[in-house]
Amino acid sequence: MRIPQEKITEIAVSNDIVDVISGYIEVKKRGKSFLALCPFHPDKNPSLHISQQKQVYHCFSCKAGGNVFSFLENYEHITFIDAVKKLAERAGIKLEYDSSKPDISSEISRMYEINKEAAVYFRNNIRDLKSSEKEFVNSYLKSRGLDKKTIDRFGIGYSYKSWDGLLHHFQEEDVFSAANIESSGLIIKKEGSGNSYYDRFRGRLMFPIFNENDKIVGFGGRKLYDDDTGGKYINSPESKIYNKSRILYGLNFAKEKIRYSDFVILVEGYMDLIALSRNGFENVVASSGTALTEDQARLLSRYTKNVYLLFDSDAAGIKAAKRGIEILLETGFDISIISLPFGEDPDSYLKSKGKNEFEKRISEKQSFINFIGDIYNKDNKLGTVEEKTTFIKEMIGYISKIPDRIKRALFIKEISERYRLNESIVTEELFRILKTAGRTSFPKSSVTLPEKDTVRISKEENNSNKFELELIELFVHGDSEALTYIENNLHIEYIKSRSILRIAECMLDELINNGAVDVSIILNQLDEKEKELLTKVANSEFESSPLDRSASDNLLTKNSHPVYNIKNAQDLLRKFRIRELEIKRSEYKTDPEKYLEVFNISKQINELMKEGR
Ligand code: UTP
Ligand code: MN
Repeated sequence: MRIPQEKITEIAVSNDIVDVISGYIEVKKRGKSFLALCPFHPDKNPSLHISQQKQVYHCFSCKAGGNVFSFLENYEHITFIDAVKKLAERAGIKLEYDSSKPDISSEISRMYEINKEAAVYFRNNIRDLKSSEKEFVNSYLKSRGLDKKTIDRFGIGYSYKSWDGLLHHFQEEDVFSAANIESSGLIIKKEGSGNSYYDRFRGRLMFPIFNENDKIVGFGGRKLYDDDTGGKYINSPESKIYNKSRILYGLNFAKEKIRYSDFVILVEGYMDLIALSRNGFENVVASSGTALTEDQARLLSRYTKNVYLLFDSDAAGIKAAKRGIEILLETGFDISIISLPFGEDPDSYLKSKGKNEFEKRISEKQSFINFIGDIYNKDNKLGTVEEKTTFIKEMIGYISKIPDRIKRALFIKEISERYRLNESIVTEELFRILKTAGRTSFPKSSVTLPEKDTVRISKEENNSNKFELELIELFVHGDSEALTYIENNLHIEYIKSRSILRIAECMLDELINNGAVDVSIILNQLDEKEKELLTKVANSEFESSPLDRSASDNLLTKNSHPVYNIKNAQDLLRKFRIRELEIKRSEYKTDPEKYLEVFNISKQINELMKEGR
């Protein structure tokens, strides 16, 4: 079911983003950009910006963003493929591909197809069950409140209590080899026997695990039978398409709801998420029992910066919540904690107390400070001076994870006041921790890059030119005044190269969150090509520096990296402005009616050049 990249590019080029979006909502032109009321959150002032030049949109309020395809996906709630089809039709481009045949052209696409096929098989099993197995499974489904609607929405299925139910099914189809099916983790090779396999999931309730793009990457199978000696849940093993630390269960269903409500409820289990969804709480994702990872946190940060943690109320849940708090603080999230009575999980609580009581719990959510404080209190661990010290140190430990200095300071103030401590002593302790830890936190991305915008931007990759590299140099070697100037005056549309845009984006985030740029931290967030570029610039000796000599002569010390000051920053941004104006001028030049604009732009360019001398 693959549409070739060239075709997608052709379709993108033939559907101007401003035209397409104007077909759905009212778009107004303001200066160079186009503005609209954002359809992805309740918007009073137009915060959706559409760049015709870059063919992307971005909402400055809810952070929704993307290209023409993502707009359709999100607005119409359709898949990427359907968006491509629609836009192809709009542009009169023919798409010849046969959707009735599975795409088995590559190992990855085969794995997706196998999982999809297996999900359909498991789902049909529920329908086709017979006699006692049927009674047993149906009564289980009923006891857990899994009605047909829920089963359909989450694609829930059943694996027969047999060694080769799925294997058999695939053998009948005869499309995929046993080795292919094995690599997707659904069957296991019998030890010592040449080519004999058996099903991994037997007699289990099957939950397909989807990635963000609605593709099934694996399964979770819940134990149903007492004589099943396996764990409560068995999950597909990691594979080329299933990286456990990067998948959040339910994100595909929840992402638009998360953006819209601007918060996400994070739960532990499949059943918790499903119970919440059935009760109308759809902005939910599940970490699936494992500790939340940095990758998962970063994935979430694309949709909101507010997380409500809703973990099981037992020792394991509290431990997982604490670890989650650390990771989320590091990623720049604002956190609240929803607590449940001891021993309950969201599923059991909703079942026994109902939706209204649950809503009450949400409204009683606490800050992480109070949550941790309560734990100490309940355990009677705040009596002695030693106990209080341990508590305060743990709190400062959490606060030290927050990348934003101002937020850190406010939390320090809060705990100092609440526990009547001298604020400067608490601050001192914070600095001590920050120093010994070194800063290892990842700032949350505050500038969202559109996901699928490679189509237009990559065309401009070739003329990734001199001053864009200079900009990166400035980020790396600039003094604090220069950096502040860049932070306040750089417009992201000045940058045409995708790699440099990505690097600049990370650097700006670092600057905003930490007040300084730490190249080594940024490197973790870049791909190979971007890394290479950044490390090259970071390591460049002055001699090979592309920075204009006229601008930097006065501040260079031999044999060390030059330090760039505010004058360098001003010069560089002036060059960017001139280039933007030149681009605009050349656009206008082809239109005889724009002669006045052309004249004015030329005047502006001259003035900027004079300023620079
Ligand atoms: P729980 O034990 O809290 O399960 O584990 P649950 O979601 O409440 O399920 P029910 O209600 O008993 O059916 C939370 C999550 O941890 C993962 C699963 O993703 C589960 O949903 N888990 C748990 C495993 O992967 N393996 C296990 O053996 C147990
Ligand atoms: Mn649970």
